[in-house]
Amino acid sequence: MADAQLAPSLLAADFAHLADEVAGIAALSDWVHVDVMDQHFVPNLTVGLPVVQSLRRATDARLDCHLMITDPDTWAPRYAAASDSVTVHVEAVRDAPATAAAIRGEGARAGLAVDLATPVERVLALLPAYDMLLVMTIQAGFGGQQLVEATLDKVRTARRHLDEHGLHLWLQVDGGVNAETIERCAEAGADVFVAGSAVFGADDPAAAVAALRTQARSASPRLRP
Ligand code: DX5
Ligand code: ZN
Repeated sequence: MADAQLAPSLLAADFAHLADEVAGIAALSDWVHVDVMDQHFVPNLTVGLPVVQSLRRATDARLDCHLMITDPDTWAPRYAAASDSVTVHVEAVRDAPATAAAIRGEGARAGLAVDLATPVERVLALLPAYDMLLVMTIQAGFGGQQLVEATLDKVRTARRHLDEHGLHLWLQVDGGVNAETIERCAEAGADVFVAGSAVFGADDPAAAVAALRTQARSASPRLRP
């Protein structure tokens, strides 16, 4: 049993005022999700290590770095030293167990992500080395996309596997998570919810976080405060 955790994604925030944007949602959020894109693993380019290090100094909020980059094996430990959770993509990582160990060695939680085209079965054997599985509910690269319904089958498969094997990983969903879709994500078995446009596109981002959490909790008996 775990409470629903909300991780607003800064990808939809105002990059010129990141510290203010974080301050606006931090008290009601479990994590601040930072999308690191290198214009190589994905076509888009966002922020890198210096920005994560600056965020670390600007806030006490827990930072959840989602690395959409080539060569996460080299870079993940450096992000781990500057944050609280680092997720690498299975499509990019070369040595998944060693990278998880390196992230944990820096005192952060280790996450493993599966992108839209990757079957979740590909990561199941790797999960015992990790603290969180991220099932992308869109193709990684851009905010503001619509959740791909078929990915919820991957969430269900992952949830079943975790429960059957007594694995205590968190199960995160990312992409198109909003008031319309979060309940289906929760029903499918997710417990950590990334939301970008649904939070920072709202008139009151903090209220949007609170409302999403209430919806997630109400949709799944697993999710209790
Ligand atoms: C996309 C990112 C997501 C993105 C989600 O590759 O991983 O975190 O910010 O944005 P929304 O919630 O707008 O789909
Ligand atoms: Zn993300």
